[in-house]
Amino acid sequence: MTSKPIGVAVLGLGNVGSEVVRILTENAEDFEARIGAPLEIRGIAVRRVDGDRGVPTELLTDDPAELVGRDDVDIVVEVLGGIDIPRKLVLSALEKGKSVITANKALLAEYTGELADAAEKSRADLYFEAAVAGAIPVVRPLMQSLAGDRVNKVAGIVNGTTNFILSAMDETGADYAETLAEAGRLGYAEADPTADVEGYDAASKAAILASIAFHTRVTAGDVYREGISKITSDDLETAKSLDCTIKLLAICERIVTPKGKERISARVYPALVPLNHPLASVNGAFNAVVVEAEAAGRLMFYGQGAGGAPTASAVLGDLVMAARNKFYGGRGPLESKYAKLKVAPMGDILTRYYVSMQVADKPGVLATVAAEFSKRDVSISTVRQQGSGDGARLVVVTHLAADSALSETVASLEQLDVVIHVASVLRLEGTTV
Ligand code: HSE
Repeated sequence: MTSKPIGVAVLGLGNVGSEVVRILTENAEDFEARIGAPLEIRGIAVRRVDGDRGVPTELLTDDPAELVGRDDVDIVVEVLGGIDIPRKLVLSALEKGKSVITANKALLAEYTGELADAAEKSRADLYFEAAVAGAIPVVRPLMQSLAGDRVNKVAGIVNGTTNFILSAMDETGADYAETLAEAGRLGYAEADPTADVEGYDAASKAAILASIAFHTRVTAGDVYREGISKITSDDLETAKSLDCTIKLLAICERIVTPKGKERISARVYPALVPLNHPLASVNGAFNAVVVEAEAAGRLMFYGQGAGGAPTASAVLGDLVMAARNKFYGGRGPLESKYAKLKVAPMGDILTRYYVSMQVADKPGVLATVAAEFSKRDVSISTVRQQGSGDGARLVVVTHLAADSALSETVASLEQLDVVIHVASVLRLEGTTV
């Protein structure tokens, strides 16, 4: 006897939505066997129902609210993008006791609290594996597999567009604008690339990762953020000379302040990464996340962080879990925010800086520059002069120091007569000295 079907509403038929529908349709028998009941798509919400969308036209609707409210819809898959419209639809679904699968990192990074409360009240599932690093299973490992461990750090490359651009700049020596244009032509960068290149997308993902890793609610606004648009081909050249490359990193870390208080840090910026660090060899549009947990040690997750089919894989994994819960009863793990750790300001975080500056090439310059570092208790690790005369450049790499001391040092260097121009400032990650 066939079990009662589980009704699914799909909101959005873009790259991810169409792959979700395709795979669900093509592998319907497998899904039924894995769940115990068949999944039936009740409708697909799109902006316009006209034209051939490659799905049965009777499934298409331009009224997502009506679709979400239907009695025969048990699970809602939200792959729309945007914040305000999906927020209302997801809330309304959860309030009606329907489980929700969403790939929407921007929505989650702002409103997880509100959505989780609604899911809690109606005892529905809210799953979002696809919201961070596409196909890569990292949300479920952090929420479930590592639930018995203590996670101290999650650091990763969680934006494929910027990783594609930085890898291409590293490989070809081309500058940022040229490489961004090429990424657009090849379909790796959106027409408006701001969310990716300025780090907003990665910051949303960092907020989600920090929340689940540290059992604390972190929103996108808590994440310190810098993008890659100021990275130059010279920076990548210098990185090579230091046996490093440059990656846009999302870093979530448990820290202890000098006064012994436990805090967390969530930050996104382009950083120098030593070539022997596992993240240095993650190239092109790929993503990778390294997790450091007390008992497990270091774990690394690697794979495709974007794209229709890879993201659909994560959505469908969640869909099977939510459907099983509907079929057998029960629900998945809840949002865990008991730790309530405060987020430390960027200035309190210990980092290392690389500072490249154009300087006057005459006696005493190095001592004057070095004095600015020592005044703020910043210890220098290496100094290198490149070029001479008018083209003289000093490259200073520091030891670990408070980020506020490092940024104040850079501000004071800019005021020195002997410093013509501070060309570039980057943090160094993946080292501890
Ligand atoms: N735009 C993202 C990226 C994919 O470039 O990785 C979706 O989060």
